[in-house]
Amino acid sequence: MRVFVAGATGAIGKQLVPRLVEAGHEVHGMTRSESKQAMLHELGAVPVVADALDPDQVAEAVGRARPEVIVHQLTAIGAVDMRYFDRDFALTNRLRTEGTDHLLSAGQAVGVRRFVAQGVGGYGAYARTGGPVKTEQDPLDPTPAREMRETLAAIRHLEEAVLGARWTEGLVLRYGVFYGPGTSLAPGAEQFELVRRRKFPLVGDGGGVWSFIHVADAAEATVAAVERGSRGVYNVVDDDPAPVAKWLPALAQELGAKKPMRVPRFIGRLFAGEAGVVMMTDVRGASNAKAKRELGWRPAHPSWREGFSAA
Ligand SMILES: NC(=O)c1ccc[n+]([C@@H]2O[C@H](COP(=O)([O-])OP(=O)(O)OC[C@H]3O[C@@H](n4cnc5c(N)ncnc54)[C@H](OP(=O)(O)O)[C@@H]3O)[C@@H](O)[C@H]2O)c1
Repeated sequence: MRVFVAGATGAIGKQLVPRLVEAGHEVHGMTRSESKQAMLHELGAVPVVADALDPDQVAEAVGRARPEVIVHQLTAIGAVDMRYFDRDFALTNRLRTEGTDHLLSAGQAVGVRRFVAQGVGGYGAYARTGGPVKTEQDPLDPTPAREMRETLAAIRHLEEAVLGARWTEGLVLRYGVFYGPGTSLAPGAEQFELVRRRKFPLVGDGGGVWSFIHVADAAEATVAAVERGSRGVYNVVDDDPAPVAKWLPALAQELGAKKPMRVPRFIGRLFAGEAGVVMMTDVRGASNAKAKRELGWRPAHPSWREGFSAA
């Protein structure tokens, strides 16, 4: 198939493009930068230069590629101060709202039969009530922390727009927290370094449940979704949702660091805001049963435990 990947040069895009090419697809990879065209060539894609926030550029790029499938992996996360979560996600939120709308319009104009978009499963998107591990049928958080409201609203917009596009088969992949090459959870990268330098404390009871996914496993699931998923939402997470109180000390040990510091919630709130406290104490994990069943996908790293040491 001819597949148009928006976000082809990012952490997930770099893993996804070569796998799609290997599977026999013709991939058109989008970037804003002329200078990243060579990288896209090396990954096996036809480079396409366009700004995702410019509807005319997106329409032209998609119109020229005439894909059968569009994959939306656009984010612009960068450094995040948890106290100002929505501020630091503002550009990503635009990519999830305007960016999604532009790609959908361009896709509709050329009649794409499938539209696969990046959703959120691992960073506190699910409602913080009931059991610790959520399925796709469980609701998204109706009352997010104040600093996360715009971000949750953008995630909802993306999901509703993609699933509501009746002219195509819309799929949303709610990825777990990425780790591995090109992510912030990799040797020398930001989060691993914070843990190694004991600057990632355990807040409150550390009862927030995180679902991780190795970025290569996320890419494998995405190839499966491009080829055989059907309209709907899929959690793309590993088999081992775990509370912060479990994975954070294990990661510190793996990195040869001292045990993480423990701080009460009110101290956590001072340094990481309400969003940070929610992430550490209150978020829910996700189940991958549907993705396994319907996509025939299995993560090569079923648990963050061995995945972190492999990374
Ligand atoms: N589920 C998760 O845990 C999750 C999800 C997403 C990101 N992250 C993490 O967040 C960190 C930073 O990621 P990031 O958001 O900077 O993403 P990234 O990995 O650099 O990828 C962003 C992609 O979006 C493209 N893009 C952004 N704005 C664009 C625009 N206006 N027009 C066209 N393309 C645009 C970029 O293309 P060009 O730059 O080439 O134009 C790039 O291909 C990484 O550590 C990643 O692992 C985690």
